[in-house]
Amino acid sequence: MRYPLFRLAIFILGVAFPAWWVYEAAANLLGPDPGKILVDRLGLGGLIFLLVSLAMTPLQRVTTWAGWIVARRQIGLWACAYIGLHLSAYLVFILGLDWGQLTVELSKRPYIIVGALAFLGLLVLAATSNRYSQRRLGARWKKLHKLTYPVLGLALLHFLWIVRSDLTEWAIYAGIGALLLVLRVPAIAKRLKRTRGRAASRAV
Ligand code: HEM
Repeated sequence: MRYPLFRLAIFILGVAFPAWWVYEAAANLLGPDPGKILVDRLGLGGLIFLLVSLAMTPLQRVTTWAGWIVARRQIGLWACAYIGLHLSAYLVFILGLDWGQLTVELSKRPYIIVGALAFLGLLVLAATSNRYSQRRLGARWKKLHKLTYPVLGLALLHFLWIVRSDLTEWAIYAGIGALLLVLRVPAIAKRLKRTRGRAASRAV
């Protein structure tokens, strides 16, 4: 296994946050509605992991360090795991597993449908992120994994629908997302590579 320490650090980070939040909930440190706080933190955590996974390719282009690409899949899987927990926390703490309420909830909170579509996309990405799918799908794999961009768009729309009034926090995440997408535009990606080339030749 390549870069074991880096991968271990990501694993510890992925486990540590939910473990800490569960501890806070158990110790009554999350206020009067701990379930809602857990839903929000897991949702935000999932979005952050998704953005970090998108930062891996530009980082690799600038630094040439292959570890970023090795970590990309793991970080994407954490995004999916956090959103799986986000959905579970919603079903347990907000819906109270009252399935009869689900249709009422969906009409009251249509942003849930947008979130669910984003989660479906994340599941497809996670299920096809392994080497076997990469080999089987060949050139189509790259195309399929461009699904990350609409997933990010849907996730940001889901978030925007919820915040409505104070847009500051949302704008920060949307701005980072937009920047990460701009860095993938072929002309800009090429420039990033050239910058790296110049830096390397100056170093020798
Ligand atoms: C079936 C899928 C999903 C369901 C049922 C769902 C449900 C919810 C609910 C009920 C909230 C709290 C709304 C409120 O504050 O009133 C929420 C917030 C949030 N969700 Fe989702 N969501 C889903 C998918 C996603 C996905 C895919 C992402 C991102 C990748 C995401 C990111 C967020 C964020 C960032 C928040 C706001 C957190 C905050 O206010 O700090 N959710 N979601």
